[in-house]
Amino acid sequence: MDRLSFILFGHAAFQYLNAACELGVLDLLAERGPLPEEEIRTRLELEERACAVLLLGCTALGLTVKEGGHYRVADLVASLRAGGTWQNIKDTVAFEQHVVYEGQADFTESLQRNSNVGLRRIPGDEPDLYQRLSGNPRLESVFYRYMKSWSELANSHLVHTLDLGNAHRLLDCGGGDAVNALALARHNPALQITVLEIPSSAEMTAARIARAGLSDRVGVQPGDMFADPFPTGMDCVLFAHQLVIWTPEQNTALLRKAYSALEPGGRVVIFNSMSNDEGDGPLVAALDSVYFAALPAEGGMIYPWRVHERCLRDAGFTAVERHPVPGWTPHGIIVATKEAA
Ligand SMILES: C[S@@+](CC[C@H](N)C(=O)[O-])C[C@H]1O[C@@H](n2cnc3c(N)ncnc32)[C@H](O)[C@@H]1O
Repeated sequence: MDRLSFILFGHAAFQYLNAACELGVLDLLAERGPLPEEEIRTRLELEERACAVLLLGCTALGLTVKEGGHYRVADLVASLRAGGTWQNIKDTVAFEQHVVYEGQADFTESLQRNSNVGLRRIPGDEPDLYQRLSGNPRLESVFYRYMKSWSELANSHLVHTLDLGNAHRLLDCGGGDAVNALALARHNPALQITVLEIPSSAEMTAARIARAGLSDRVGVQPGDMFADPFPTGMDCVLFAHQLVIWTPEQNTALLRKAYSALEPGGRVVIFNSMSNDEGDGPLVAALDSVYFAALPAEGGMIYPWRVHERCLRDAGFTAVERHPVPGWTPHGIIVATKEAA
């Protein structure tokens, strides 16, 4: 029953994590060291009962540890803080709470209708989540903070796996706030990058690039990657956290456009979470698929590697390589080359 009860009350477990992050109890204990309940209550400005609930949950879930009369932060949280990725986790928690949570209540209906019914929880009448974000500035900022953090948890592997020593031009399709384009540009000083982004987000993208001081090498092309032509003459086309959003048919169409945009010998790169070919995990890929089934666009999931590989072959690519990414996120990288005729 342990595992079933954890699933049964999984939403409550998440609410403890979210409250712990929003109220700052874990950061407080990490910064101040072990504290008695009364001091925690005073510092968090909580009533006695409220603080007791918070500490009961955090301690039972292993986010805090009670020793003697004091509470301390769990070793895991302390080590994430020391390793510099605790903020990435907090940004992910905020995204789950403010963008994902409500829409997931429509998961069953989304499966029955094979469509993203949960999008109805996001104000707006645009056809997907991304086009609704600019009309919801608070959600937009939570979303792009999360995307940056989620990318940063794995994109050093992207930067080191991709040898772009001989590449001159890279297209980043749906590049968001340019987190991956900027990382690649910093690592490859000769590379020119075009970030293709929807018009309602393109200004935000350009501002991030300017703030990074890389506007001379990283540009933004506002447009719709489905409807508008890709710029040609590319050595590399990147789809980062992109081909989890759409159906395999849409992905194949995008990969065909990438194939046409590439020079012979050029490469397309898929960088996102992957599920395994057996269809039984990893767990984070399965859990993240609820969001992709219920919310952002009509059809998406954390696809198995083989589905991306099939789309690549259907789009004309023959040489296809897998690069699993180590770490707790289920990230992977697929690199496919457009062979010279
Ligand atoms: C999941 S985010 C990924 C952002 C970024 N690539 C990253 O890895 O952090 C998807 C991005 O694709 C953009 N996008 C969605 N539909 C698009 C379209 N039709 N044309 C261009 N960009 C699009 C969204 O605005 C969003 O910034």
